[in-house]
Amino acid sequence: MNKIEHIGIAVKDLDAAEALYSKLLNTQPYKREVVESEGVTTSFFATGPNKIELLHATNADSPIAKFIDKRGEGIHHIAFAVDDIEAEIKRLQDEGFTLIHQTPKAGADGKRIAFLHPKSSGGVLVELCADA
Ligand code: CO
Repeated sequence: MNKIEHIGIAVKDLDAAEALYSKLLNTQPYKREVVESEGVTTSFFATGPNKIELLHATNADSPIAKFIDKRGEGIHHIAFAVDDIEAEIKRLQDEGFTLIHQTPKAGADGKRIAFLHPKSSGGVLVELCADA
């Protein structure tokens, strides 16, 4: 795995969160993108070599809506950049991790992604992220 590519943060009100993080990070979001397959609207901030991804539910069944119901707003996942996502999925499976996605899928910001199940990674939702 390479650097932390981004940290995903679940938010209830995207406009309010964009205003808050714009002040905190002293920069404006560079992109808003809906990922319908995940039930989220994302908003991205560039922070040095990393990014912050705000995640807002597009519907009540969205994983983000369920996450906020259970745990409230806050850090949702950590994404690591990888060069070869298929090889990394295989390596992690061989190490005994449970993958939510056994094959990469299209994620936000032009990436191919796969999530690990947090039950196998110490309660932290981990995303692998490769350039498409
Ligand atoms: Co992400």
